[in-house]
Amino acid sequence: MPAMAQPSPSVFVFGSVNIDLVCRVAAIARPGETVLSPRYEQYFGGKGANQAVAAARASTVPVAFAGAVGDDDLGRSARDQLSNEAIDTGNLRTAAERTGCAFITIDRNGENAITVASGANLEAMAGAIEPACFAAGCVLVLQMEIPFEQSLLAAQRMKTAGGRVIVNLAPVPDDLRQDDLARLLAASDVLVVNESELAAAGRLSQLAESEPDAMAEALAAKFSVAIIATLGADGVLVADGETASQRLPALPVEVVDTTGAGDTFVGVFAGALAGGALTADAARRAAVAASLACRTLGAQSAMPRAEEIDAALSGR
Ligand code: RIB
Repeated sequence: MPAMAQPSPSVFVFGSVNIDLVCRVAAIARPGETVLSPRYEQYFGGKGANQAVAAARASTVPVAFAGAVGDDDLGRSARDQLSNEAIDTGNLRTAAERTGCAFITIDRNGENAITVASGANLEAMAGAIEPACFAAGCVLVLQMEIPFEQSLLAAQRMKTAGGRVIVNLAPVPDDLRQDDLARLLAASDVLVVNESELAAAGRLSQLAESEPDAMAEALAAKFSVAIIATLGADGVLVADGETASQRLPALPVEVVDTTGAGDTFVGVFAGALAGGALTADAARRAAVAASLACRTLGAQSAMPRAEEIDAALSGR
């Protein structure tokens, strides 16, 4: 029998596109309070688009993106930005709603508060994506800034096609129910969460562990997925459901802005996994990249390229 051709590895991100309007403030406004900022800056953002850019910059595998932007100048510039990063936008729809916008304030410690006006992101449609995007060898990346049922359908299509699925549970949908999460994880291979998302996933799944390590191990065992928890300066926790969880260190950096650091992690992790890396090795590379992404303002504007990540990894 002739040998079957191996499918080419690739990363396929299905998710949100936003334009980020960013203000720097001394302290983030509390409810009922007004704070002043000298100006705002405009950046390309959206968790989905950010993750696609991070993957494209850090790996050599092809990256494609699907989602929706409005028929407006912001949408056209976001589409061009993805194309300029060599990302295939053939499945990026133009929708009736306006392009998504994120209103971001960053305090003097680099911490942020974000409000997203979803707009066109609510019109992202998994059913409209070409079948060729779902294939063995492909790694699908999902986040939670488009309708949950659309992400779920994309995950199920990729599982059926024999590809792998990474879910970033960010932000945790307000109305997410226990069975929604279970259905999504049944079609997933890796769940990436931050500390609060890890706690939320555990609560929803009726798990009572109080420590992140124990919670990650319990979730991994319950759903047969790898759990990766990003813990900021405390590094990254990896639980594969079989062995004890392990901690990988973050790179110490001077933090200017943490916006997009989690997205950098997810995109770089997906690129490494698609390129053949083992889960822990991909997470180690992604943790270093996420630290590097905190050194300057903006999400995509701060994401490192492969050479920079390699240099930081070898400088250890
Ligand atoms: O994760 C950071 C992103 O969240 C920003 O780029 C913003 O658009 C929001 O979606």
